[in-house]
Amino acid sequence: MNIHVPIVVVERAELSASQHELLEQAIGALGHAHAPYSRFRVAAAVRLADGQIVTGTNQENASYPIGICAERVALSAVNSIAPGARVLEMAVTYRPSNGTGHAPLAPCGMCRQALVEQHVRQNAALGLVLAAESGPVWLVESASDLLPLAFTPSDLD
Ligand code: THU
Repeated sequence: MNIHVPIVVVERAELSASQHELLEQAIGALGHAHAPYSRFRVAAAVRLADGQIVTGTNQENASYPIGICAERVALSAVNSIAPGARVLEMAVTYRPSNGTGHAPLAPCGMCRQALVEQHVRQNAALGLVLAAESGPVWLVESASDLLPLAFTPSDLD
């Protein structure tokens, strides 16, 4: 078996207006992160099919394992305030404790699983726009591509 993960690397100037706005909204939300323990701020912004943008940030806790990643905060927010809404695209960015990052950040394994669940429940792929506050951008057409051989609801049948 040969597993291929398609990622397109672009410069920020090559983003569509919608992708650029989504990434800027994510960057703008970094200040909402609660990351006093890792000092690693992460923010996600999702574009819904109706054009609305919803953001989420990592929310840590003194009981470390309770902390939630930005991507899952954003998805939970969408599914709570706009149940049934379709997520078209998610931008993810971060700010490390030592300043501004340059390389894109890809969602952690748990968030990849949550993104697959979103794909399944909305029966449509969602794209990713991954970038630091400066530097290149990674575009992933379908977030599910980041989790080959994923465990999905059909495995429960
Ligand atoms: N984090 C995210 O919010 N998203 C990711 O995809 C990777 C990690 C958060 C979790 C924790 O609050 C901090 O970054 C350091 O791991």
